[in-house]
Amino acid sequence: MSVKIELLNSLLNKKDFRCGKEMLDNYLHTQASQDVKRKLCVVFVLFDETTIRGYYTLSNASIPSKLIPKAIKRKMPQSYEVLRVTLLGRLAIDIKFKGQGLGSIILVDALKRSYEIANHSLGSIGVIVDPLDSDAVAFYEKFGFIVLPDSGKMFLPMADIAELTF
Ligand SMILES: CC(C)(COP(=O)(O)OP(=O)(O)OC[C@H]1O[C@@H](n2cnc3c(N)ncnc32)[C@H](O)[C@@H]1OP(=O)(O)O)[C@@H](O)C(=O)NCCC(=O)NCCS
Repeated sequence: MSVKIELLNSLLNKKDFRCGKEMLDNYLHTQASQDVKRKLCVVFVLFDETTIRGYYTLSNASIPSKLIPKAIKRKMPQSYEVLRVTLLGRLAIDIKFKGQGLGSIILVDALKRSYEIANHSLGSIGVIVDPLDSDAVAFYEKFGFIVLPDSGKMFLPMADIAELTF
């Protein structure tokens, strides 16, 4: 298996991707390329030849500082009402390839990329996700994401990402 992770391009077969969550399938089939053109996000795909096995999206975002856990907020300027973060908006693996470690591979790729961007190009205190359901919450919890109460979001500080062994 020689999988690569690169930006989405028009040579790849988007239409046969199925992850079991229709919303995430439809997004890749019909909207992802448009969002990229409009600079709403970037889409990275894990693929083999022209088969897309998984994808994720990244964009800039901000969250109200009151959502951030106290221990982290204490270290931030108290006057900042919003804090800049990186949004891992969508992440999915094709159902045919589930349970083979590809979800971990693309999540780690997304975290590593977010960390490098935050270090060198664009400030961000951490990565947030909007898990679709309790399965997704359980998946992200395995990697250290914490639930931000009353927001539907989960958060992983850049300081924790720095400590992951990539
Ligand atoms: C969630 C998803 C990305 C996992 O992909 P995958 O390739 O099957 O995951 P991996 O094989 O890399 O598993 C990585 C680890 O997460 C665990 N895991 C996978 N899915 C899980 C789930 N739903 N709940 C809890 N843990 C999960 C695995 O057991 C594994 O743990 P281990 O290393 O201790 O064995 C995939 O099932 C998917 O695309 N689901 C539909 C879309 C979705 O829910 N996306 C999440 C964000 S909205």
